[in-house]
Amino acid sequence: MSTRKQSVPPARIPSAGVGEGREIWAVGSGKGGTGKTFLSSNIGITLAKMGKKVILMDADLGCANLHTGLGMSLVSGTLSDFLTGRVNTLDGVVVDTPYPNLRLISGAHDFLEVANPTFSRKEALLSALKRLDFDYLVFDLGAGTHYNTLDFFLAADKSILMVMPEPTAVENAYRFIKSAYFRYLKRVSTTLNIRRLVEEGMDLKNDRGIRTVHELLEMIGASDPEMGRRLREALLSMRPHLVVNQVRSLEDVTLGFAMRSSVEKYFGMRMDYVGYIEYDDVVWKSARQRRPVVAEYPYSSPARCVDRVVRNLMAGTQLDLEAVMGKR
Ligand SMILES: Nc1ncnc2c1ncn2[C@@H]1O[C@H](COP(=O)(O)OP(=O)(O)OP(=O)(O)O)[C@@H](O)[C@H]1O
Ligand SMILES: [Mg+2]
Repeated sequence: MSTRKQSVPPARIPSAGVGEGREIWAVGSGKGGTGKTFLSSNIGITLAKMGKKVILMDADLGCANLHTGLGMSLVSGTLSDFLTGRVNTLDGVVVDTPYPNLRLISGAHDFLEVANPTFSRKEALLSALKRLDFDYLVFDLGAGTHYNTLDFFLAADKSILMVMPEPTAVENAYRFIKSAYFRYLKRVSTTLNIRRLVEEGMDLKNDRGIRTVHELLEMIGASDPEMGRRLREALLSMRPHLVVNQVRSLEDVTLGFAMRSSVEKYFGMRMDYVGYIEYDDVVWKSARQRRPVVAEYPYSSPARCVDRVVRNLMAGTQLDLEAVMGKR
């Protein structure tokens, strides 16, 4: 393996890099129904109420419903028009919403197989998105680990993983993190020219006995310390943010701290626990009224929880275990 210095790969894939204080946020989860659409729309309105220019993008290819929660009917120009190449600009795809400062890119209505964009089309989309006028662009992703979903998750400056305090949701959240991590690892390894080694290491039948990402990094570091260091450094830049939704007890709240520790232990990856959202009937009430909670019930517990999540994301801060336990 060559020891020649190579440039450190970009932190995101494909790199969002909007810069100048502008940010892309993405909300994803392993399991369906964890509250991604609820959080995305309420994050969007919270930021818009702060005076930020916000665009919400429904990236749930095939099952788009973000417009419904905002009280809007089906719009004609959608993301699938761009992704399938029917149109080549986002003009007419970004529409105003009933909320000041908040615009929407409505989702694809084609099923995933139809709307399934090539990697270069996704890159074209990100370039077109970067040219739009916004302070915050928020992606509402579909559930699961399809590579399209992972690519949008990894393309964000801040990616948010939603989980509910239920065993299947927790299991799927770990699966999501693992899939995103491996997708990232593959891309980074291509840039660093070590894809063959990484693929061998990730192959369950590999005869080098590599079982974990740690072992893989150690193996690469042993044969090329500089490459090992660069790979570790690149992987460290993947830093998801965790939100636990539908909490009903202090134990549910502490799930986020436990997950944060596990992710650090198994992947050597930092994950910020930026907040939890209490289970509350106002969420379904507002869904029936087609008005997001922060607009309809701004003083409710979920609205205050969303506000804390947004402030933590903006400030780069997270929940403090001691402070949470002090409430007991
Ligand atoms: N904190 C909460 N309290 C009560 N109900 C909630 C809460 N969060 C979400 N819900 C309800 O859970 C359901 C799923 O929410 P939502 O549609 O936002 O999930 P999703 O992750 O976007 O689902 P999908 O994977 O299908 O896109 C909705 O009926 C919503 O009203
Ligand atoms: Mg949804």
